[in-house]
Amino acid sequence: MFRLGWFLGNGFGMQPWYGNWAGRSMTDWTQPGLYVDLTTSLERAGFDLLFIEDTSMIEDTYGGSMETTLKYGMMAPKNDPIPLVPLLTAASEHIGVVATMSTIQYPPFLAARSMVTLDHLTRGRVGMNVVTSVTHRVAQNFGYDKHFEHSERYAMAEEWMDIVSQLWESWEPDALVHDQLEPRYADHTKVKTIDFEGKYLSCRGPLNTIPGPQRRPVVAQAGNSVPGRELAARHADTMLALAKSPEEMKALRKDMDERLIKHGRKPGDLKILFMAIPYLADTESEAQARFDRYDAAKKDQENVEKRLWQLSYVSGGVVDYAKYDLDGPVPQELGNGETTTAKSWLADSANITLRDLAEGPTNYGMEFVGTSDSIASQMGDVMEEAGGDGFLLYPEMTRRSIIEVCDGLAPELRRRGLIRDGYAHKTFRENLLDF
Ligand SMILES: Cc1cc2nc3c(=O)[nH]c(=O)nc-3n(C[C@H](O)[C@H](O)[C@H](O)COP(=O)(O)O)c2cc1C
Repeated sequence: MFRLGWFLGNGFGMQPWYGNWAGRSMTDWTQPGLYVDLTTSLERAGFDLLFIEDTSMIEDTYGGSMETTLKYGMMAPKNDPIPLVPLLTAASEHIGVVATMSTIQYPPFLAARSMVTLDHLTRGRVGMNVVTSVTHRVAQNFGYDKHFEHSERYAMAEEWMDIVSQLWESWEPDALVHDQLEPRYADHTKVKTIDFEGKYLSCRGPLNTIPGPQRRPVVAQAGNSVPGRELAARHADTMLALAKSPEEMKALRKDMDERLIKHGRKPGDLKILFMAIPYLADTESEAQARFDRYDAAKKDQENVEKRLWQLSYVSGGVVDYAKYDLDGPVPQELGNGETTTAKSWLADSANITLRDLAEGPTNYGMEFVGTSDSIASQMGDVMEEAGGDGFLLYPEMTRRSIIEVCDGLAPELRRRGLIRDGYAHKTFRENLLDF
């Protein structure tokens, strides 16, 4: 059995808003309706979690202008996902909802408090995706001249997570007395300051709210570089990963097992979810035709432009891909953003043109093409071979995909006993770590 998550890759932002199946997203994306439909469908299907990306900028790296960003709605505009979370959990009963928080956007006290507040409001079904943010434009929105260098921002993130974790433990489990007669609400000797003094951050504590149902909300981490892996090994319950094959999945799992043990944790304490994109249809040939159409469309000028924009974003706003000749070599600069993603996208690009790269595979994870039945069996085979913990599905965000995945693919996975057919526990962490 494995876990299933849905990656809402453009957060509480613009979902496909033009073309087939866009519905009324152009105007309705700011409202909760689509996300509520998504959450209830995922729960019906037996998903473990919904994962909400977030970023806070309007990019202008590509072409030195916001034109492309705002023409297509590339990662902007976007609403804050945190207030959306309780609306989603109010409409559901079991599924976990993970919202993203950046270590350069939130002071750790605010993050710790906000997550515990959500833990109360969701009755123990919230998770926090810890990210270090990707581009200079984000950093500049939060008072910095430019984004921190990769290793430095992970060093800050380690301190940030230490503070958040200590605040979550700043009330001892038996601190609440709840004696109405005496009266005594809490035992002040069991509520402790943390007095954290780091190189980048400091915090006195204790947290000014009581622990929620999970005490420690689920922590997710998505960076796959060495410092990203270390952060996950120390703090995370789940990690998101990009891998192209069962071999790469196994190698990451082995590496993470060693890191977990080094930090005094057990391999089973961290569930690794691998990104995967399903291309579903009623027959194999229709699915293949759908994939081929999608593949051929990569050559459209619009898609080439979007891809170059994404390369600029992933570089951390360091490389402007609009400046390079499409028929010339690919600049090999990794930049300072999502370095593992950049490495994977630039792998084997030394001898091809920028156009080849822009028209080539998108590398957002494994791609599965077929009917519900055949994709369910492909997913089962990959998990069996790789011994992985689960998939984070990243389909196009339309109501059509929700139905295809939740009422087509997921029942096939369930029929095979590959995913859960219910939720044994009340809290997200208990369900996530159940097997
Ligand atoms: C699947 C996935 C999801 C991510 N989600 C976010 C996000 O929501 N917000 C964000 O700022 N960064 C996000 N990132 C970026 C990472 O959290 C990380 O900060 C960045 O990729 C640096 O990673 P590295 O350790 O691989 O260099 C995501 C990365 C991946 C692979």
